[in-house]
Amino acid sequence: MAAISSVPDRLTAPADDFVAGEGILRRQSLRESAARTYARSLPVVPVRARGMTVEGADGRRYLDCLSGAGTLALGHNHPVVLEAIRAVLDSEAPLHVLDLATPVKDAFTTALFETLPPELADHGRVQFCGPAGTDAVEAAIKLVRNATGRGGLLAFTGAYHGMTAAALAATGDTAARATVGEADARVTRLPYPYDYRCPFGTGGDRGAELSARWTASVLDDPKGGVQPPAGMLLEVVQGEGGVIPAPEAWLRRMREITTRRGIPLIVDEVQTGVGRTGTFWAVEQSGIVPDVMVLSKAIGGSLPLAVIVYREELDTWRPGAHAGTFRGNQLAMAAGTATLRYVREHGLDLRAAALGARMLARLRGLAAHHRCIGDVRGRGLMIGVELVDTEAEPDDYGSLPAAPRLAAAVQQEALSRGLIIELGGRHSSVVRLLPPLTITDEQAEAVLDRLADSIAAAERATTTGGSGTTGGSGVPGGSGAPVGPGASGVPAGSGAVEERA
Ligand SMILES: Cc1ncc(COP(=O)(O)O)c(C=O)c1O
Repeated sequence: MAAISSVPDRLTAPADDFVAGEGILRRQSLRESAARTYARSLPVVPVRARGMTVEGADGRRYLDCLSGAGTLALGHNHPVVLEAIRAVLDSEAPLHVLDLATPVKDAFTTALFETLPPELADHGRVQFCGPAGTDAVEAAIKLVRNATGRGGLLAFTGAYHGMTAAALAATGDTAARATVGEADARVTRLPYPYDYRCPFGTGGDRGAELSARWTASVLDDPKGGVQPPAGMLLEVVQGEGGVIPAPEAWLRRMREITTRRGIPLIVDEVQTGVGRTGTFWAVEQSGIVPDVMVLSKAIGGSLPLAVIVYREELDTWRPGAHAGTFRGNQLAMAAGTATLRYVREHGLDLRAAALGARMLARLRGLAAHHRCIGDVRGRGLMIGVELVDTEAEPDDYGSLPAAPRLAAAVQQEALSRGLIIELGGRHSSVVRLLPPLTITDEQAEAVLDRLADSIAAAERATTTGGSGTTGGSGVPGGSGAPVGPGASGVPAGSGAVEERA
C-alpha cells in the first residue's frame, strides 16, 4: 500500500514523538474541546488503515468494529473507493460546486435511485443536504413542516438523529438534549419497542403492540394534548439508542397509523442503510415504504454526504427553502457511487444478513456463560451486546440494570487485544459491533474471540469493585473512560487476521 504509507505527515507530527503517538495524544487532550468523545476511550493514533485493520502510530494493529460510526461499508481505503476518488482528481473536475449539476452527481443520483424502493425511485425527489446526517434530518423535518403546514413531530424514546437543533429535539437522550436547554415542545415522545426493557413491562409482540396502541390513541384522543403533527421520525434499528431493532409488525403498524392520519413517515436510515442490516435499506425487511428517507454515513463511501429522498407530493417547498454551501462534494459522490454499486453487485447486504446471524448465534452462546450479558440483539452487521449489573436487583420485568463501568472495562480490554468497539445505549452499556460489510469469516471469528476474552477479563476485574449503574457520558462514543496511551493493540506482524495496512 505505497500510496497509503505517506498518509502520516511528519511535518505535522514532531519526529520525537511520532512513533508512539504519545505526544499527539497529549497535545490533543490539551488543545481539543472537552466535548470530544471517541478520542477519550480510544487512545489510538491511526496512521494507516485498510479493510477493517487500523494501524496506530505505535505500529500496533486493530480490528476496527467502529468503522467510522458505521460509515465504512467497504472498510478503510477500499480499492474501488480509492479508484473513484482518483478518477475525479485526475479528471480535473471541480471539487466543489454547491448544488450545480455535474456528471459525477448525475451518476451518484442514478446509482442511488437504483437502490430505492420503486415507489421512491419512480416518483421520488432527492435533496442534497449539508454534509452530515444531522443536516439531512433537519431538511426532512423542514420538508414535512413545509408540506403539511404543521409544526409537531412524533419521535421515539431511545432515538438518535443528530446534534443540530431540530434533530437534537427529536433525539431521546436527555443528557445530550440538556446542553441546549428546554426541550422542543413540538416533539411528542412515543415509546419505542425496546423488548429487553419494555416500557410496558411485557416485552415481545405484546409490548410492541401496546406501543402502537399508545401511539394511535394519543393521536386520536381529542383531549390527548397532541396537535396533528407534521411527521413521524423513526429508526428501523436504533443505533446509538443501543442497537434496538423494531419488530417488522410494529413498523407496519407505524406505516398504517401514519398513512391513515395523513402524517408523513420519515425513516432515518443514516446508520442502517447500504446493506448494514441485511437488506440494502432496512425498511425493505418490513416492506414499508416511507414518505421520506434520510441517508448519510455509508452513502458517501467514507466521505461526508447526506441526502433526503421523498415522495414528490411533498416537494412543495420553494427554491432556497433549504440550502447550504457544502452540498456538492464531488469526491464523496464518486466514492458513494462506487460503494453503492459494489455493495449491490457483490450482494454484501445478503452477506451481512448471513454473517450477522452467525455472529449473533455465537454471542448468544456466550451469553449462556456470562450472566453479565443481559441481551444480544441486532440485524445483519449491526450488533449489540447489552451488559448488566449482576450484583443489583432485577426490575419488574426481570432485567438487571445497565453496567456502564463493566462496559467501559470491556472496551479497554478489547483495545488491549487489538479490537476497536463502540459503546452505546442507555448508560453507554451496550457493546456495539459495526464491522465493515467486507469482514471475512476469519476476522469475524477473531472479533468474537477477542470480545469473549475481553468480557471475561473485565468481568473478573470489576466483580470485586461492582459495575455500578451510573456513569457513561450519554454521548455517542463517549464512555467516559480515562484517556492515555497504553500498550494496546496487536503488535504489527503478529496478527493473522489483520490486513497489511
Ligand atoms: C440514525 C442516525 N441519524 C442521524 C445521525 C447523525 O449523523 P451525523 O453524526 O453525521 O450528524 C446519526 C449519527 O450517528 C444516526 O445514527
